[in-house]
Amino acid sequence: MPKRDLLSLAPISTEEIERLLGRAQFYKNRSRAAKESLPLAGRSVGLLFEKSSTRTRVSFEVAVTRLGGHPIFLSFDDIQIKRGETIGDTARVLSGYLDGLVIRTYEQEKLEDWARNASIPIINGLTDLHHPCQILSDLLTILEKRGKLKGLKLAYIGDGNNIAHSLMEGGAKVGMKVVIACPKKFMPDVGIVKETQSVARKSGGKIEVIHDPIQAAAGADILYTDVWVSMGQETEKRIRARQFKPYQINSKLAAQAAPDVLIMHCLPAHRGEEITAEVMEGPRSVIFDQADNRLPMQEAILERWVG
Ligand code: CP
Ligand code: NVA
Repeated sequence: MPKRDLLSLAPISTEEIERLLGRAQFYKNRSRAAKESLPLAGRSVGLLFEKSSTRTRVSFEVAVTRLGGHPIFLSFDDIQIKRGETIGDTARVLSGYLDGLVIRTYEQEKLEDWARNASIPIINGLTDLHHPCQILSDLLTILEKRGKLKGLKLAYIGDGNNIAHSLMEGGAKVGMKVVIACPKKFMPDVGIVKETQSVARKSGGKIEVIHDPIQAAAGADILYTDVWVSMGQETEKRIRARQFKPYQINSKLAAQAAPDVLIMHCLPAHRGEEITAEVMEGPRSVIFDQADNRLPMQEAILERWVG
């Protein structure tokens, strides 16, 4: 059987997403002491991070442990890649020791290089282009709060970045209407927009990219945002602060949405930039539920890809 990787949500079917949501709910409801399901017993999973992480790293480490496996955290700074060893050689060597590898890196092409050279499953823990594990757990949060996904309008306000891309891919698969409101200079990837629009046509969803945050927020069931400066973009901080100023989720923008709107953010957040403290801490915010749901979804992902 060919090895399976999770590099983006594009090749994942709607049925597969539904199965993962079901398994995540199973892991969430399972008591911590329950030993009936240890699909990673005797297995070791590497967590190889080239960028900072709080949620992804810790939730994966705990998830591997809860499933009976052994997580091994590896920082790019500590392995021989830093001294010039190739991804190809490292991937071949690590494949001999490990049963799976979660990787957080910059270019998607680098992740694909790992996947080509490794004989074990590679899971995307975030690249510049995608953050599939985040969006799978966000779908779990929306499903829990709304009881459905299909037909909901999600307005993403801000940068056309990795989160926006994975939201478009996941949203299109489950029949949501995803509207991205971003400045003209910071649009999502054109290829991903086209592809997800075509997927959405089949699922009954819709993908739209516009520039007016108020129009995007109108009647939205979900308002979602992310940082204006992603990891690796620190030198663009000033121009981004100017460009994204009208794209803040504040109480005025939230008032355009449905009265029972869910306010979402993948975290880490910068209060007073992409979202106000008032909205973030307000009654419509499910931001910390999102963070909690990373753990059961990582368990479902590990069971599916490594178990
Ligand atoms: N949302 C998210 O991926 O957080 P971390 O960068 O802390 O992993
Ligand atoms: N877009 C952000 C997401 C962090 C989880 C980044 O890439 O830094």
